Amino acid sequence: MIRYIDELQLTGKRTFIRVDFNVPLEGRRVTDDTRIREALPTIRRALELGGKVILASHLGRPKGPDPKLSLEPVAARLADLLGPKHEVILTDDCIGDGVKKQVKDLKEGQVIVLENLRFHKEEEANDETFSRELASLADVYVNDAFGTAHRAHASTAGMVPFVKEKAAGLLMKKEIEYLGRVLKNPEKPFVAILGGSKVSDKIKVIENLLPKVDVLLIGGAMAYTFLKAQGVEVGKSRVEGDKLSLATRLLEAAQRLKTPIVLPVDHVVSDKLPNPEDKDKNKDILARETADNAIPTDMLGLDIGPKTREMFTQHIRDARTVIWNGPMGMFEVAKFAEGTRSVATAMANNKQAVTVIGGGDSAAAVKEMGMAEQLSHVSTGGGASLEFLEGQELPGIKALETR
Ligand code: 3PG
Repeated sequence: MIRYIDELQLTGKRTFIRVDFNVPLEGRRVTDDTRIREALPTIRRALELGGKVILASHLGRPKGPDPKLSLEPVAARLADLLGPKHEVILTDDCIGDGVKKQVKDLKEGQVIVLENLRFHKEEEANDETFSRELASLADVYVNDAFGTAHRAHASTAGMVPFVKEKAAGLLMKKEIEYLGRVLKNPEKPFVAILGGSKVSDKIKVIENLLPKVDVLLIGGAMAYTFLKAQGVEVGKSRVEGDKLSLATRLLEAAQRLKTPIVLPVDHVVSDKLPNPEDKDKNKDILARETADNAIPTDMLGLDIGPKTREMFTQHIRDARTVIWNGPMGMFEVAKFAEGTRSVATAMANNKQAVTVIGGGDSAAAVKEMGMAEQLSHVSTGGGASLEFLEGQELPGIKALETR
């Protein structure tokens, strides 16, 4: 059983909230503040409940203290979002006497952001002494960092037993509810769409979803490995040569379960791999639709074609539960974004279904295409949502279990 922040009495209590503020930065600018915004309901609730709020996060993968990975720009963005009623104080470190004093002196309306947890290697090592140091700052531990729940680190797992009370935050609750509903209790028809570049990243997700879904749609570069395994000509497309027999085994497993795996029947191809960064050159890049699923030997597939888009759209239109992870093509380049856009549009248009995006690139795509608001849930986890969909127990969630 997991308790949620709403069930706690927080008045005057030091409330340590593990958030995932691992956001993209360009210099000192936060370029996507979704994870900060998504943590606001929990932060606001803790403040309303009278808690003394201490926020802790990692940022990037520093090898030690690194000013470029300071949480300073994140704290500044949080201050903007919280508004003038609240002061956000960034500490110099995440442990130590100085920090303890700042926590003790915290006044109503103020919020503390601890400096990057990963400036101490003990965070990722899940070191006990470091865990106890963090725990000594807290009367209550709240985890709202779904994006980091797949890591067994000091702040997500190690410190939890050393704090008197523990609970999940509201974002964590939403993530567990939506992703959990998809896996445990999906209304049928249940359609899963998987894409992205590598089959190897999605093997366990496919194995876990196949017995649950009514149909599995596969696009993105990983589709070429499946097509090649079936003997289809895929030209110069990206193929994982060492995963061909695995692809065959997965297709056979699907047949035994009588669950169709639907592969692309046409493509958008080019003669060379575009560089998504090189916006000018990409205007002139060749983009041609194929007549069927065979790709000319001198071409490579970069998106699903119009017939596939229509076929996938129909499956999604009829569904009551849809989970999607991984883009259908190189959506960063406009000429190869239609497949990804059509899946996002079909999901956004299906108002009867529970529509969930399993994080990562497909979450970035729906945000960029302005469709995130029209879906039931867009996960803030990349690796975490993938492991959740694989059916794995995530250490950050397990640590919150009360029995
Ligand atoms: C993420 O962005 O996936 C999480 O914040 C975890 O980051 P990590 O992969 O560096 O542990």
